[in-house]
Amino acid sequence: MAQLWGGRFTKETDQLVYNFNASITFDQKFYKEDIEGSMAHVKMLAATGVLTEAERDEILSGLTGILKDVESGKLEITSEYEDIHSFVEANLIDRIGDAGKKLHTGRSRNDQVALDMRLYTRKEIENLKELVKDLMVVLHGLMKEHLDTFMPGFTHLQKAQPITLAHHFGAYMEMFKRDYGRLCDIHERMNYCPLGAGALAGTTYPLDREMTAELLGFKGATLNSMDSVSDRDYVIELLSAMSTIMVHLSRFSEEIIIWNSNEYGFVELDDAYSTGSSIMPQKKNPDIAELVRGKAGRVYGALMQMLTTMKGIPLAYNKDMQEDKEFTFDAIDTVKGCLALFTGMIKTMSVNKATMEESAKKGFTNATDAADYLVGKGVPFRDAHGIVGQLVLYCIDKNISLDDMSLEEYKKISPVFEDDIYEAISLKTCVEKRETIGAPSRTSMEKVIAINEEYLKGI
Ligand code: ARG
Repeated sequence: MAQLWGGRFTKETDQLVYNFNASITFDQKFYKEDIEGSMAHVKMLAATGVLTEAERDEILSGLTGILKDVESGKLEITSEYEDIHSFVEANLIDRIGDAGKKLHTGRSRNDQVALDMRLYTRKEIENLKELVKDLMVVLHGLMKEHLDTFMPGFTHLQKAQPITLAHHFGAYMEMFKRDYGRLCDIHERMNYCPLGAGALAGTTYPLDREMTAELLGFKGATLNSMDSVSDRDYVIELLSAMSTIMVHLSRFSEEIIIWNSNEYGFVELDDAYSTGSSIMPQKKNPDIAELVRGKAGRVYGALMQMLTTMKGIPLAYNKDMQEDKEFTFDAIDTVKGCLALFTGMIKTMSVNKATMEESAKKGFTNATDAADYLVGKGVPFRDAHGIVGQLVLYCIDKNISLDDMSLEEYKKISPVFEDDIYEAISLKTCVEKRETIGAPSRTSMEKVIAINEEYLKGI
């Protein structure tokens, strides 16, 4: 048991209590941030005259040594220490002696851990942004490739109107653009340094909090020392943003699973991204997409845990807040994994254009356009709707599509139909006539793709 306190205690901590209280098994994840924070703190302490320059240099070289040895595996972080802060401080004192005992001047573990968690999550926000960007780059490429890949658009999972695969992918592109934006917003809001808040009420040392903030790349220092040690809003925001990413990945996965089924056959997942069955030799399963869909629950769980942990805590620091780490770390790793895997999966899957187009033709997705055709010939829309309803019924009976009907058959139902009906209800026309902003026509999509191109260049 290596702890930083004990002076006022007359008994050893019970072993079970020690184990229950310790956080080293998970907070070792931010050993680097802990050391980085200590380095900035020490530089600031020397600049303000709290430490001498010689003490600063001794501590800095000790910390550099610890960092190097941990990274090389020479120094192992073990559960002999209560937490990562104790581990670093104890090792520093072992290495450099008395100067090491001055590291914690003007600091509490409360502001220290608040800083570590911020540094760690801030770094991970950048990693997440990169991964969302990688996914958007792949989607962007696919959108350019599939401007003329016709497919049915669905509502209620029933074929509705024809769209293109570019348009379908474009919907997800918008979602991921918002996800990216949310990550940027969180970074902006959380980028203030809590170090110097002390346990809760600041310290009596003449700390230069602005300097520490600047050394660590923050926009400034946090403005209330009690809030500084007990704010975990940014963790909640990050978990919420990651949950939304998972909503999107999960919906997309669900569609890939459906599209990849034998019944649909719209896409085929690459062998490298599929798995087999131990008993059924014919099987090729979309496990990756299913796992991404499944892992959404895990990330939402972390959000719920964090909201619940925080909701009843009085100001300022309370030990409940140690619970901010494990689920958050797990959620970050989960979302990063899902983003990377999902990107690889859609990049390598093949698209069956003919099957998609055939499906769009078979599902009366051009029925609205047939009605609009009649409207163009002077038939009121409600009557046109009824006439096309009859056409659909007729086709269902004959197991054909609207395009397969002869003009005679058309005329039997309404004499208004002319030869130009075929052109009017071709998939190409149906898509190309939808030219408003955000609609699936090539011209509309090209405008959006140009905007996205600029957007991707700028992030
Ligand atoms: N392991 C603690 C945490 O993660 C560090 C802060 C400890 N502070 C304290 N007053 N016990 O929150």
